[in-house]
Order: sequence, then C-alpha cells, then structure tokens
Amino acid sequence: MNNRDFILPDILAHEADMLAIRHQIHQHPELSFEEVATSDLVARLLAEWGYEVHRGLGKTGVVGTLKRGTSPRSIGIRADMDALPIQEETGLPYASRHQGKMHACGHDGHTAILLSAARYLASQADFDGTVHLIFQPAEEGGGGAYQMMQDGLFECFPCDAVFGLHNMPGYPTGLLGFRAGPFMASSDSVHIKISGKGGHGAMPHKAVDPIVVGASIVMALQSIVSRNVPPLETAVVTVGYFHAGHASNVIPDTAEMELSVRAMTFEVRQLLLKRIEETVQAQAASFGAAAEINIHDPYPPLINHAKETEFARQVAVDWLGEQGLIPDLQPITGSEDFSFMLEKVPGCYLLIGNGDGEGGCMVHNPGYDFNDDCLSVGASYWVKLVEKYLSNS
Ligand code: NI
Repeated sequence: MNNRDFILPDILAHEADMLAIRHQIHQHPELSFEEVATSDLVARLLAEWGYEVHRGLGKTGVVGTLKRGTSPRSIGIRADMDALPIQEETGLPYASRHQGKMHACGHDGHTAILLSAARYLASQADFDGTVHLIFQPAEEGGGGAYQMMQDGLFECFPCDAVFGLHNMPGYPTGLLGFRAGPFMASSDSVHIKISGKGGHGAMPHKAVDPIVVGASIVMALQSIVSRNVPPLETAVVTVGYFHAGHASNVIPDTAEMELSVRAMTFEVRQLLLKRIEETVQAQAASFGAAAEINIHDPYPPLINHAKETEFARQVAVDWLGEQGLIPDLQPITGSEDFSFMLEKVPGCYLLIGNGDGEGGCMVHNPGYDFNDDCLSVGASYWVKLVEKYLSNS
C-alpha cells in the first residue's frame, strides 16, 4: 500500500486534467508579484466551479470562497503561486518557456493540488461552513503572505484555522509530515556597511582598512552561536557575501557584507540580532571605523499550533494509517512566509514527500521538478481536512 491507494476516486478520475494544469503553470513561471497569468488561471477556474472570487490582495493574490450550510465555522487553506529566477535544466517536455525563470520549488504543484481540491469541494464535498482558498503571491521574496494580510486577508475572510503544505524532496512520495511547535526557522537578512578610510596600499597607517575590519567582524560573529546561544537551541549566522576593494595596492573606503540569520524561536532570534549589532559596532569602533546595519526580508519563525497540528495529523492517520506519515519529522532551518499567517490565526504547515529516489533534486535546484504522484494525494488530503474540520456531525 502507498498513499496513492487512498486517493478519492473522483479526484483520481480528474487527475490527468489537473496534471495538465500543473504542467501549464510550470511552463509559464512568474516571479514574485508578477503572477498575472497564473492568478488569471486560478481565478477563472474557481469562478467556473462556483466560488466567490476576490482578487488583488497582495497585488496578484486570489481568494476563492465557498459556503455551505449554516455553520459559522470557517477554514483557510493556502497555496503559493510564484516561481524563482533560475534557468531550468530538467529537459522536460513541459519545461519553462520563460528564460531565467523556473518553478524550482514546486509552487506549481501546490497551486494545482489546491485547485484539484477546490474542484472536488465545489462539486461534491460534504461540509457545513465556509472554506477560503488562499492563493498567495511572492513566497520566495517580498512576503506575499504578509502583503495579503496587510490588505485585509483575515479581516475580509475570517478563518478559524489556516493550513498550508510544501513538498519536500528526500521523503517518500506522498507521505505527509506533521510537527507541532517550532517547525521552520525565522529568517533575517542583515546588511552591514563598514566605512573606513581609503588610501594607498603601501601606506596602511594613513588609512582605516575596512577589509581588516570586515575580516575581524566575520570571525567575531562566529562566537555568537558558539558562545551566546544556549547549546540546546538552534541558530545559524551565515556570512553570505563580503565585497570590498578591486586592486592590490588600493585600500578601499568601504566594505559590505550580508548575513543570513536563522532561529527557531522568537527569543533566540532577538538574541542573535542583538549580539550581531553589538559585535559589529564594537569591532568597527575598535578599528576606528563605522558600521551601518540594515535588516531586510524579516520572516518570523514558523510555529505550528499544537491543537490544529494534532487535528491535521489525526485526519491523515484516520485516512492513511500511521504508515502514510513521515515518522519523527524534524524541524527545518529553512523559512516560509506562512509563518506570518500562523502569527495571526492558529493552524498548521505540513509537508508532503516529493520522493526519496536516486537522482532526486532538492528544491531551488535547476534540475528539480514537483512529483506528479503527489498531486492527487495532496488534493484528497485537503478534502478530508475540510470535511472533518467543517463536519456536519
Ligand atoms: Ni517553496
């Protein structure tokens, strides 16, 4: 038995159509906040199936609403629609037709999964309450979830709970993974500009060398995780770039670097940012240089709510049995802007295995592709979740 054996018969009957939609989206990838054709397609299908469709939240976001019965209860399910600035190298017949753009994170698959569930929910699902299907832009950069919320997502479409999923290479195809509590890391990009005093490479005593200051900062930063963060906590401080100078005999005026900072809790995140600020400023001052620090693209840690995660897990266990789940799923130091939604509304972010075979690619790789065998499993799961959450009985 595998999870494909549990796909709802009507979802299986429409699988070929839904795969065609997935491949169409894959062929026409669109970057953050440019998901015009994708959101047109999503909105058109939802309207065809009888959803009340709202557009424009977060620029290209789409919300499809379906009401049934009299219950005031409501559930939100979210998919992301954006692609990445990567040149595809899969050689697939439905490979990207857009130069330098690619669905390398499987958001085409997440969108198709939710569309497949949407079709079923509208045509025959049994529930009492309101379903809001949230198709968001710009997960990869720009915080599309946050932008939709700024535009009133949960005020216009109140949800008692919200759920989302991501495919994950390295786990068996179609297995579902759940973890309550801190599940994905916060992410802060910290830009540092060091201002020294340029000069002749032969006369360093008449300059303040920002390269030496920067090198010293890189080394000093290494002690934050090893000496300040409690040993049982998770934290990452990576210096992703360090740019300065262009000639051996010239000391430049400035140096720039950027850090990726990750933590699984709000407390550790605050500790990291505070210690980075103190370390950078003190190091710079000790050389007579100045440092300017700017944080951009701040994503909070993704914390799954205990009650909703247990509910979502139980729906999967009742449907698939324990063998249909990823055992002992561990937290991930990647980040995800669904974390913003979970700050406002209780819910759960779960994984679906994208396959663990030889030659499988990690997401964000030019050879990656979403596994089509997951589509109907994911769609059937969303249906089961909605029917249980908005159960008549
Ligand atoms: Ni992704």
